Amino acid sequence: MILITGASSGLGAALASLYSDDNEKLILTGRNQQRLEQISTPLNPQVTTHASDLCDPQSVAELFDTIEEAPDTVIHCAGSGYFGKIEDQDPAAIKQLLDNNVTSTILFLRELIQRYRDHKVNVVVVMSTAAQAGKAGESTYCAAKWAVRGLIESLRLELKGYPMKIIAVYPGGMATRFWKTSGKDLNTSSFMTATEAASMLKQALVGTEHGYISDITINRG
Ligand SMILES: NC(=O)c1ccc[n+]([C@@H]2O[C@H](COP(=O)([O-])OP(=O)(O)OC[C@H]3O[C@@H](n4cnc5c(N)ncnc54)[C@H](OP(=O)(O)O)[C@@H]3O)[C@@H](O)[C@H]2O)c1
Repeated sequence: MILITGASSGLGAALASLYSDDNEKLILTGRNQQRLEQISTPLNPQVTTHASDLCDPQSVAELFDTIEEAPDTVIHCAGSGYFGKIEDQDPAAIKQLLDNNVTSTILFLRELIQRYRDHKVNVVVVMSTAAQAGKAGESTYCAAKWAVRGLIESLRLELKGYPMKIIAVYPGGMATRFWKTSGKDLNTSSFMTATEAASMLKQALVGTEHGYISDITINRG
């Protein structure tokens, strides 16, 4: 079974569609139940949805309470953007950015590790190339994604000796709703489609008996 967060849109929704074509059993989550249903309706009958706000610890626990078996793979795509020069940024929007990217990932991984640390689960955490280098006009977004990177690098050490593995993913620009919801007016016509990025990621996630690709950067050409 594969659990995908951020599956109501963009990269998560594209991954859901590709894995559904392989007849995989999927649990899709996002905040918006209506969009989750729109995404899951054309998919295989083994796909189920459960809306959850990952910034809310109770909602995260309830999501995991609905899961009956240990997932083989968890793909954490949930996140949001917010951009602009720091002096122009709004404190409430900065807080929301940190909640949607950092708090959500902390609460989600905390619950996942508590429950499934002793299982062979590949945990795929989608960050951004903004977690690899500073970017002018993206300071708080970079700060959020660098924080997630610090979190997972530390959790990798805490998970040493356990079968659970964390796979780090750093995508470049994708043409998704992300840009509209981040408030950045941008021409994304040269960006990867969500399906392009999802199909590259899906290929990279195929491991062998004794190996796996631990860090994946998906650049746009
Ligand atoms: N698009 C890009 O150019 C780009 C580049 C590099 C990295 N990324 C990263 O890649 C990931 C996926 O981005 P995308 O482009 O697919 O974005 P997207 O189309 O805007 O989708 C974001 C998803 O995250 C979910 N989400 C946001 N906050 C949440 C919360 N608090 N709790 C639960 N779900 C939440 C949204 O759910 P609802 O819509 O249901 O609320 C939605 O399903 C994000 O982490 C993003 O930062 C994006």
